[in-house]
Amino acid sequence: MAMKVFLETFGCQMNASDSELIRTILQRDGFDLCGSVQEADVFLVNTCAIRENAHRKIFGLLDRLRPHRKQKPDFVVGVLGCMAQNLKEELFDHPVVNLVIGPDNYRSLPRYIARAARSGSREMEATLSEYETYSDIAPARVEGVNAWIAVMRGCDNFCSFCVVPYTRGRERSRPLAGVLEEARALVAQGYRQVTLLGQNVNSYRDGAAEFADLIAQVADLPGMERVRFTSPHPKDFPPPLLEAIAGHPNICKHVHLPLQSGSDRILDRMNRTYTEKEFLDLSEQIRRMIPDVALTTDVIVGFPTETEEDFGQTVRVIRRVRFDNAFMFKYSPRQGTIASRKYPDDVPPGIKTDRIVLLQKLQRQISQEKNRARTGQIVTVLIEGPADRTPGHQMGKSDGNGTVIFPESGHSRGTLVPVKILEATANTLYGMTVPEPVPQDA
Ligand code: 5AD
Ligand code: SF4
Repeated sequence: MAMKVFLETFGCQMNASDSELIRTILQRDGFDLCGSVQEADVFLVNTCAIRENAHRKIFGLLDRLRPHRKQKPDFVVGVLGCMAQNLKEELFDHPVVNLVIGPDNYRSLPRYIARAARSGSREMEATLSEYETYSDIAPARVEGVNAWIAVMRGCDNFCSFCVVPYTRGRERSRPLAGVLEEARALVAQGYRQVTLLGQNVNSYRDGAAEFADLIAQVADLPGMERVRFTSPHPKDFPPPLLEAIAGHPNICKHVHLPLQSGSDRILDRMNRTYTEKEFLDLSEQIRRMIPDVALTTDVIVGFPTETEEDFGQTVRVIRRVRFDNAFMFKYSPRQGTIASRKYPDDVPPGIKTDRIVLLQKLQRQISQEKNRARTGQIVTVLIEGPADRTPGHQMGKSDGNGTVIFPESGHSRGTLVPVKILEATANTLYGMTVPEPVPQDA
C-alpha cells in the first residue's frame, strides 16, 4: 500500500512553490498525499529560518508530534527546507525528527523516506547545489487563480543579517525558454496570473537575457492577463526593467522595494550596497517612470548599534517615500550570518518594540491616507473568491496588490473586474463593480 504523506509549509512564497515541487516528486514515486497528521505515515514540514519566531513555531509543531511518534514507532518525521539546511544534524536533538532534507535535495526525498521508514534510521541530506533549479519538474499546483513560477533560486548578496545565502545557496537561473514554456502552459490551463519568484528575482540572468527581458516576454504571451514578481533587491532595477513594467498593461504596477534601514551607517553594516540617497532617487525614478505605482517595503528595527538617530533616519525615509504598505521586523540574529558573528545584538528588546510600534503606527496612517485617496477611483480587481468575513461579498487584488472587497458581482474567481472604490481602511478597499470596460492602465 502507498505510504501517506502529510506536508505542512511555513515561510515565503518560494517555500510554497517548493512544496508544489515536493508534491510532484512524491506523487511520481507512488506516495499518496493526505490532509491530516492522523492519517499520515510520514509527516513533512517545509520550514523557514528567516527569524527566530519562525524557528519557534516549527519547534512548537515538532513538540506536538511527540504523542504520534509514541503511537506509531515507524512514523517518519522530516524537516525540509531552510531550517534543515541551517541546522542540519542539530535537528536530530529533537526526539521526533528522523529525516532532514535541504532545499536542493528534494529529488532524493522518496529514497530517504523509504529508508527511514524501513529501518527507523535517521537520514539526512543537506548539500547545496550550484545548478539545481528543478526546471524539469512541473509543480503540482493547488488549483487557483495565481501560479508561482520559480525562475531563479539562491542569493549571492550576503546582506549581513540574512540567513538566505546560507540556506538557499548560490544564485542560479532557469533557462528562459523553459520559463516561457511553463508560462504558456499555465495560460492554457486557465491561470490568470503568474508570479515570477526568486529569492532575488531581479538578479535573473540567462546568457544575455536579464530579468527585464524575461518579464517582458512572459507578459507578451497571448492570453497572459497578469504578471507579478517577488522578491527583488533595489540594486537590480535598471531602466529597461522599469520600462518593461511601465510598457506592459498586464504587468502589475507594484514594486516591492526593501529599504531595511534609512541610515547610511546601518545600511553599510547591513551590506545593502546603497545609500539613503540612492534609495530615495530610485523610488522617485520608479514613480516617475511608472505613474500610480504601488510601492511596498521591508524594514528591520534594532539592527546592532542602531541609535535613536539612525532610527530617526528610517522614520524620515518612510515619511518621504510614503510606501503603500510596509512589513516591519525586529532584528533577530541568525546562526551563520555575518552580523551574528561580527556584531552583538545590543539593542534592548524594549527599544526594538518601541521602534517597531512607532513605525507600524506611522505606516498604518500613511496606508490609510493613501487608500482613502483612492475613493472614487475605478481599480481593476482580479477576483480570488468569496470574502471570508463579509457574507455576500467577494474579494480580490488590485493591480497594486491591495485587498478589495465588494458585493457579490456574479463573476467567478479568476475574472478581472472594474471596481469603484467607495471606502477604505489602512488594509482594505471597499467598493462595487461597475459596468465600465476595464481601463488598460489601471
Ligand atoms: N532579522 C529581522 N528581519 C529579517 N529579515 C531578514 N533577515 C532578518 C533578520 N535576521 C527581514 C528583511 C527581509 C524580510 C524578508 O525579512 O526585512 O526583507
Ligand atoms: Fe524563510 Fe528565507 Fe527560506 Fe523563504 S527563503 S523560507 S523567507 S529563510
